[in-house]
Amino acid sequence: MIKKVKIAPSLLSANFANLEADIRKCEAGGSDMLHIDVMDGHFVPNITIGAPVVKAINKVTDQILDCHLMISEPERYIDDFADAGADMISVHCEAQKHLHRVLSQITARGVKAGVVLNPATPLEYAFEVAEYCDFVLMMSVNPGFGGQSFIPSLFRRCERLAKFLSTNGLDNVEIQVDGGVKFENAKQIVDAGANILVCGSGLFAGDVTENIGLLRKAAVEN
Ligand code: DX5
Ligand code: ZN
Repeated sequence: MIKKVKIAPSLLSANFANLEADIRKCEAGGSDMLHIDVMDGHFVPNITIGAPVVKAINKVTDQILDCHLMISEPERYIDDFADAGADMISVHCEAQKHLHRVLSQITARGVKAGVVLNPATPLEYAFEVAEYCDFVLMMSVNPGFGGQSFIPSLFRRCERLAKFLSTNGLDNVEIQVDGGVKFENAKQIVDAGANILVCGSGLFAGDVTENIGLLRKAAVEN
């Protein structure tokens, strides 16, 4: 099944002192959603932003807000992020004891639910819960920081996941890839079966408005 390629700029690489300006630039470039990286300094070695900032962002844009929770015990914060205006929430396999329960919690709030796999997380996690997810987020770096190098095992992992989804009637589940996505590897990532490309440093390193279009073009044409 051919899915529309969606571009999700990661605000982690935006100017935190003027997020609204960078959000306008993303909108102008035709971004499909905004990827918001939430880090707690516990699950990952970095601290970023929380639900109050998501709420503020929600007030200034109609973009889909895709909240990637890199936090321990995310079940404690699902309601906060849903209340703040999250449209998509993803949680890491290793971040809670009861993954299915947290996914149900997200879905019950009318928010799209995603499971996140680190580069070394067995794909079986996704196989077990894909039917309860709207999307699977495949990390192509170890989470915590922008600007890291892409880990190539993503390609074979993504292909295997895409095959699993299509052979199990789960074509509605989208595959998102996050970490080290650039113009150069975008097409290969899409060919491996992903359709949502998260991109931070690759977009914000120059003119983000222009780069969104260039990334979309690279993803479908190269
Ligand atoms: C990393 C984050 C990513 C990050 C990607 O833990 O989940 O979303 O912003 O940044 P780049 O595209 O620079 O690798
Ligand atoms: Zn992310």
